[in-house]
Amino acid sequence: MRFAVATAFAALVGLAVASPTPSNSGNSVRGNTGNGQKIAPKVFVFSMYDSEDVWTDRIALTQNVTVPGLSPLFPNVHCNAAGEICQLITGEAEINAACTVTALLFSNLFDFTSTYFLIAGVAGVNPHMGTSASVLLARYAVQVALANEVDAREMPSNWTTGYWLQGTSEPGTMDDVEIYGTEVFELNTNLREKVRPWLDGITLNDTTQAQEYRATFGYSPASDPPAVFYGDVSTSDVYFLGADLDNAFANITSLWTNGTGQYAMTAQEDNATFEAMIRAHLAGLMDFSRVILLRAASDFDRSPPNAAEVPAFLASHGGYPPSLENLFIAGNPIVQGIISNWSSFKGGVAPQDGWLHNADVNHTLELKKAAAKKRSMSRRGALGLARR
Ligand SMILES: *[C@@H]1O[C@H](CO)[C@@H](O)[C@H](O)[C@H]1NC(C)=O
Ligand SMILES: *[C@@H]1O[C@H](CO)[C@@H](O)[C@H](O)[C@H]1NC(C)=O
Ligand SMILES: *[C@@H]1O[C@H](CO)[C@@H](O)[C@H](O)[C@H]1NC(C)=O
Ligand SMILES: *[C@@H]1O[C@H](CO)[C@@H](O)[C@H](O)[C@H]1NC(C)=O
Ligand SMILES: *[C@@H]1O[C@H](CO)[C@@H](O)[C@H](O)[C@H]1NC(C)=O
Ligand SMILES: *[C@@H]1O[C@H](CO)[C@@H](O)[C@H](O)[C@H]1NC(C)=O
Ligand SMILES: *[C@@H]1O[C@H](CO)[C@@H](O)[C@H](O)[C@H]1NC(C)=O
Ligand SMILES: *[C@@H]1O[C@H](CO)[C@@H](O)[C@H](O)[C@H]1NC(C)=O
Repeated sequence: MRFAVATAFAALVGLAVASPTPSNSGNSVRGNTGNGQKIAPKVFVFSMYDSEDVWTDRIALTQNVTVPGLSPLFPNVHCNAAGEICQLITGEAEINAACTVTALLFSNLFDFTSTYFLIAGVAGVNPHMGTSASVLLARYAVQVALANEVDAREMPSNWTTGYWLQGTSEPGTMDDVEIYGTEVFELNTNLREKVRPWLDGITLNDTTQAQEYRATFGYSPASDPPAVFYGDVSTSDVYFLGADLDNAFANITSLWTNGTGQYAMTAQEDNATFEAMIRAHLAGLMDFSRVILLRAASDFDRSPPNAAEVPAFLASHGGYPPSLENLFIAGNPIVQGIISNWSSFKGGVAPQDGWLHNADVNHTLELKKAAAKKRSMSRRGALGLARR
């Protein structure tokens, strides 16, 4: 079925052009639309590794664009024939995500100024927030492991975790915290509200193995059927697990978000992706209010009650195959919805109050806007256009 659809579509639109020679000779560099124009996708999907690419075959992303600086394993952006939908694979964990997304956004091969970005990957789930095969739409991404760590065997006897924030003296406090600028990113929740109704009618994929494992938790929502839900995602290169570390990082999520964020899922890329995007936004290359973070739950971040953590981690939770399916089942209505309602998305979706301040922890976008306003005021002043 998948292939039949792809083939029929390719026949309909005419066969896609082969990949261009990579080039980086400046502004005039173009994608392979053949008419000297940059490709201006309406929606761009990020997968983090090959199994998450549930897109290229199913929606006929047959046009390849080679972008210098992408992962050597995944050197091509894949677009549909119209150039409206594109996708790439970043490679896993923070360094791959940061390098790939920076190379893409600064490549000059595309015009991303109106593009919506959908990050769609699998992740571990907090059983107190969701269950396997569920799909999360995020507000915050928090770089939880950007912290000090002492092995728990060597920590003071009254500590609950070996992790504490840099610059502080113990877990649970922000006093004198040292900030690098990538600790927390907030996304446009009005955009999330706008696309959420499109997921109301969907049936998420599931398996009996996932159902059986879920039942061993014996509490909600871990034992409930998969659903679409809201929460926040942690980013860490270390694939952490177990209730103790999960609770420590949930506490750190809460600290970085002043108690407004709830640790729901754990993954390895999002903050790196977002830092690259903040930089591209500052360079006028994209709009960071047009980003959706969707994560489907492949496994649980901790064991069921009364089970040892490491054996539970190594056991199959049954959530992985349906989570991959659900990236498409939940992600594609968002992709298609934005395209079919382009007139109401083209100009952007106004974000929630205070978003500009919190988009990144250093308030970079807000400061840039204030600086631009100040410059334009003083220019007007110099030209004698200031208010009389
Ligand atoms: C496009 O690139 C993918 C790998 O990124 C490859 O599998 C596929 O064959 C390429 N398609 C064309 C038309 O070159
Ligand atoms: C642990 O004990 C020390 C020394 O009594 C105290 O200063 C500190 O606040 C305590 N820390 C925690 C996390 O309870
Ligand atoms: C973010 O802010 C902290 C101080 O709060 C500063 O030390 C750091 O250099 C800033 N980072 C960036 C990228 O601006
Ligand atoms: C990670 O991204 C989230 C938002 O997605 C943000 O809240 C968090 O501050 C980021 N953390 C780091 C360390 O970049
Ligand atoms: C889940 O997806 C698989 C693979 O496409 C399919 O074979 C299976 O029938 C689906 N199950 C449900 C319950 O939709
Ligand atoms: C998380 O914070 C709560 C409330 O301060 C505390 O009781 C708990 O021990 C902390 N958990 C960890 C693992 O640090
Ligand atoms: C948390 O509080 C600080 C200090 O008031 C503020 O600058 C920051 O924007 C707040 N962060 C969030 C995510 O609300
Ligand atoms: C958007 O498009 C979908 C079909 O893709 C449609 O059902 C929906 O009503 C449209 N309008 C809005 C505002 O979402």
